[in-house]
Amino acid sequence: EKGTYPHFMLKEIDEQPLALRRIIQEYQDEHDHLKLDQNIRETMKVCDRIYIIAAGTSYHAGLVGKQFLEKMAGIPAEVHVASEFSYNMPLLSDNPLFVFISQSGETADSRSVLVKIKEMGHPALTITNVAGSTLSREADYTLHLHAGPEIAVASTKAYTAQIAVLAILAVDTARAKGLELDFDPMRELGITANAMEVLTDQKEAIDELVRDNLGTTRNAFFIGRSTDYFVCLEAALKLKEISYIQAEGFAGGELKHGTIALIEEGTPVIALATQETVNYSIRSNVSEVVARGANDMIFSMKGLEQDTDAFVLPEVHELLTPLVSVVPMQLLAYYAALHRGCDVDKPRNLAKSVTVE
Ligand code: M6R
Repeated sequence: EKGTYPHFMLKEIDEQPLALRRIIQEYQDEHDHLKLDQNIRETMKVCDRIYIIAAGTSYHAGLVGKQFLEKMAGIPAEVHVASEFSYNMPLLSDNPLFVFISQSGETADSRSVLVKIKEMGHPALTITNVAGSTLSREADYTLHLHAGPEIAVASTKAYTAQIAVLAILAVDTARAKGLELDFDPMRELGITANAMEVLTDQKEAIDELVRDNLGTTRNAFFIGRSTDYFVCLEAALKLKEISYIQAEGFAGGELKHGTIALIEEGTPVIALATQETVNYSIRSNVSEVVARGANDMIFSMKGLEQDTDAFVLPEVHELLTPLVSVVPMQLLAYYAALHRGCDVDKPRNLAKSVTVE
């Protein structure tokens, strides 16, 4: 039930800190060790490459997860859009593990890949919010998101839960392999849950940014580099899906290869700057678009901020920044849709679970 909330989406955005804390609880045993099915641990240890298969928002979570698996667990990983996988099937490694990420566990595009790779005899792990869903039943192993039911068509808390569970999986694997890690996942996720709460309390500030900058615009760009780029893809999808503003997420350095031609006087360009390594270069991309008339809004992380930034995010571990930077992006989409009188929870032409290919 929505309770006092006008929309499920807003309620689900607000539930994110709680969902994250639930994940911490569910994946930690009484000795503060990570709690994961031993079979999953063994499978992760022996696989030589991970193929992540997902669609939409879950695909965007996969892009972030790939980095965890490579940087923390030392396993090469690739991320595939489910509906494209069969046409361009990569050469598989000797011991592949397929990881399906799906809020609903019912996405037909992902299921058809699952059926195919099971026929080929490969192991599959599904990360889903719905226990007993098709993708969960048909895979060898399941990791639950524990995000609670997600009703709004626009996925919010499932995305952050997916990223959190992928981080836990990567750390667990690293530990099982005896790799040195300077990262305490439960501590960092706890700090992140608090930071998310700070952000969900700042709705008015985001609403004001929307009123001032996205009121009548026909299009908008989200730019970022490195991890921020992946969040930009998600931010653009969210905005398109519910407000019908044409939006694109772009890698900052790629703009000059064509897309910058679209920047006109007043075009909104939202930039994420949460990573120290790219703080300088993304800001120079912002100057390039501002020089062509763009209306910029920089969302930076505390410690990297400058006076002219539109919004400063509370600081979290650099690997977990998507969990906080996405929250104001979800709120931007929400208020943009609200002010345009769109049906926030049930956008046109879309279904919550896409059960056709
Ligand atoms: O249930 P799934 O995670 O498999 O769904 C995948 C996509 O259909 C879904 O994430 C979609 O992109 C959302 N509506 C985005 O908000």
